[in-house]
Amino acid sequence: MLMASREGASKLVSSMMLVSRSFSTATARGILAKEAVPAKAVGFNGDVVRRNIGEFWVRGSVFGLRHGSTASYSGKDQQQEEVKHSQPVAEGGDKAEEKNAIVSYWGVPPSRVTKEDGTEWKWNCFRPWETYSADLSINLTKHHAPVTFLDKMAYWTVKSLRWPTDLFFQRRYGCRAMMLETVAAVPGMVGGMLLHCKSLRRFEHSGGWIKALLEEAENERMHLMTFMEVANPKWYERALVITVQGVFFNAYFLGYLISPKFAHRMVGYLEEEAIHSYTEFLKELDKGNIKNVPAPAIAIDYWRLPPNSTLRDVVEVVRADEAHHRDVNHFASDIHYQGRELKEAPAPIGYH
Ligand SMILES: [Fe+2]
Ligand SMILES: [Fe+2]
Repeated sequence: MLMASREGASKLVSSMMLVSRSFSTATARGILAKEAVPAKAVGFNGDVVRRNIGEFWVRGSVFGLRHGSTASYSGKDQQQEEVKHSQPVAEGGDKAEEKNAIVSYWGVPPSRVTKEDGTEWKWNCFRPWETYSADLSINLTKHHAPVTFLDKMAYWTVKSLRWPTDLFFQRRYGCRAMMLETVAAVPGMVGGMLLHCKSLRRFEHSGGWIKALLEEAENERMHLMTFMEVANPKWYERALVITVQGVFFNAYFLGYLISPKFAHRMVGYLEEEAIHSYTEFLKELDKGNIKNVPAPAIAIDYWRLPPNSTLRDVVEVVRADEAHHRDVNHFASDIHYQGRELKEAPAPIGYH
């Protein structure tokens, strides 16, 4: 690994052109801040932009990455940088390689991105290229008829879970939605994780199913992040989430190991129930029993909603997401029913 020394920013930039992994830009800033070497407009693609002594970014089109500075990089960090030591570790030919030992690491600053209107992107949990417009035209009433014993078992397992859920939440649909999303975000992660391990064990591709299932998990988690903005869970509800997660994660993990066919079918039915719950949520909003408050900012950005959107618009797009998850999971189960593995059928990546 080639390391930058304190010979100035020009050597730093030329080093960046050579190495395949860029090192801490904090280190770079420390050098610039201390020595105040004028930065030249060169870089991977001739594009080093320096704004001031404490903030610049290098855009590297070669790797498709943008390493930017952070406002959180403080004077304290710079002081910590100064205690780093440079020590030669090897000598080869005429040049000695140096290794920088640092006592504090802040080496991967977030990239700076902006919205289409030029304003700063405020979300770190998702980026503009991960946002989408929900397909509201999806069939919401589609239902997989349980025919086999396994399907019926999956169907009635989900149906039986609805009864205590109805009893606990009754018509508090905001809270109900939020709590159910804490469960709904588990299967995709568990399934994706198990397929990931399988891919490693067997030295084989997953057909995109790891990504598709992790996308589902992330999408469900974004539902939760959205409903968090409009509902406040009470202490006993938080306790319930912890308990349910402990049980459900392990149960689904084991279930997926034993029968992914059953596991995906059950999630398919769970999604059908979610569609029903969100339809009831919309009815309550239309009746005026739930206040149709403005949509949370995170939802507007995530689903590319108009700025004046409301909670009703959010529930509609979330419901459309659930319908997509329903299709993905019933499809996955059907692949297994045909005696095939998921990798044999291309995964519906980016199916929203
Ligand atoms: Fe969801
Ligand atoms: Fe879902």
